[in-house]
Amino acid sequence: SIQRHYKFNVVMRNKTRLCATKSIVTVNGKFPGPTLYAREDDNVIVKVVNHVQQNVTIHWHGVRQFRTGWSDGPAYITQCPIQPGQSYIYNFTLMGQRGTLLWHAHVNWLRATVHGAIVILPKPGVPYPFPKPDNEEIIVLGEWWKSDVEAVINQAMQLGMPPNVSDAHSINGHTGPAPNCSAKGYTLHVETGKTYLLRIINAALNEELFFKIAGHNLTVVEVDATYTKPFKTDTIFIGPGQTTNALLTADQNPGKYIIAASPFMDTIVATDNQTTTGTVRYNGTAAFSPTALTSIPPRNATPVTTSFLDSLRSLNSKAYPANVPLTIDHSLLFSIGVGVNPCSTCLNGSRVVADINNVTFVMPTTALLQAHYYGISGVYSEDFPGNPPMPFNYTGTPPTNLQTTNGTKVYKLGFNSTVQLVFQGTNIIAPESHPTHLHGFNFFVVGKGVGNFDPINDPRKFNLVDPVERNTVSVPTGGWTAIRFRADNPGVWFMHCHLEVHTTWGLKMAFLVENGKGPNESILPPPSDLPKC
Ligand code: C2O
Repeated sequence: SIQRHYKFNVVMRNKTRLCATKSIVTVNGKFPGPTLYAREDDNVIVKVVNHVQQNVTIHWHGVRQFRTGWSDGPAYITQCPIQPGQSYIYNFTLMGQRGTLLWHAHVNWLRATVHGAIVILPKPGVPYPFPKPDNEEIIVLGEWWKSDVEAVINQAMQLGMPPNVSDAHSINGHTGPAPNCSAKGYTLHVETGKTYLLRIINAALNEELFFKIAGHNLTVVEVDATYTKPFKTDTIFIGPGQTTNALLTADQNPGKYIIAASPFMDTIVATDNQTTTGTVRYNGTAAFSPTALTSIPPRNATPVTTSFLDSLRSLNSKAYPANVPLTIDHSLLFSIGVGVNPCSTCLNGSRVVADINNVTFVMPTTALLQAHYYGISGVYSEDFPGNPPMPFNYTGTPPTNLQTTNGTKVYKLGFNSTVQLVFQGTNIIAPESHPTHLHGFNFFVVGKGVGNFDPINDPRKFNLVDPVERNTVSVPTGGWTAIRFRADNPGVWFMHCHLEVHTTWGLKMAFLVENGKGPNESILPPPSDLPKC
């Protein structure tokens, strides 16, 4: 296969946003970072050199990493961090994958500024399964904090309250036009009659977002690097870690049209209503011509998210079949909650935690994959519960005891076993939808609903024909989402809410997939430069 070599120098760089200059961690001095281009089946080799005074890892979000968990990136799950002055070479193959993904730092909250696009083109000579666009544009949505992001994490860990929301959202690094002191906002220049493939990425830390362009519909053709049945929409709903490819045709009167990215929060617990804007500008439009505006969905516009998500279907064509597991070896129910645990070092003697099946995940100090591979005991236990400890009315009145148990637990899966996993959202403390990400796999979203999951009747309504295939899915407040996948990738694979504040609070766990018996069914040996803890 073809090799693509990249060098990521992790360096501090001054950036000016919202009228102030601050030094941030970047890759190669860029915010967002450089785009990684490759083709399906290419071998990607990225040398990451850490020139900053803090630990770094990079995760290739959505890359399957078949047998190469050593290159997956989450700190203390698959590797120890790259320490200041050290380097590490990530080496992986984009086997059977094409589309848009993202890479981001995967230690603490470093991904706030350390992220970028991954564009995987089809194999040479293989067309897209939709009309060829005249041009392509990457659109990375992010967030900007005026304060030091590390201080925000400490706030998240110390207070009984959610931490400060960001001060602005950004489009390709622009926080928006004046009065935000950014010289100008982001502009997409288009030519009348032409079609553009927008590769939209949500790299924000803590916000699911709506994305709109005034006066134009968008045709969704792909999410999370899997092709979908094309559908038209005026609003895209995209959670952190998710990617959406959509076609934009410049078919309106020449002029300027606003682009808006605004937060979605189904229950309003925080006060973030920051909308960031950019502009689509038709070539030849006079500078003084007015900009067409668009209506922003309200922050709690659940009907908009529901109709968007209901429209997503796998393409399921001959060339790109949806291989949904039809029999199930492991049937799991994971309740997602936010609770309160005692904490002697915290301001109020307690702190907010998050859990899956009442387990608040505690980060180990040895990477789980190393512990598994070398048989180091005492790092994790294999007793992650497959069901909530005591069933309760998840979407009714919360139980009175909100204390969770702490643990570093994994759920073990046999090689090639099939999994049905129902995420049950709850009403406990922070009723908020959770964009949940599974490393190492794509999964099929076979069902979703409001209220408590009904194990008898709901599965009868599952879509096992053309469910959308993704790596990150939103679990709604007061509702559930069901996924299926095949555990065909040996290793240790992180699963967590991609709202960074919830990950910090412990809304995370890991699956351990055993080696298979065949010659190509086990984890490859670790590279010699694997960082030490
Ligand atoms: Cu995009 Cu574990 O993260």
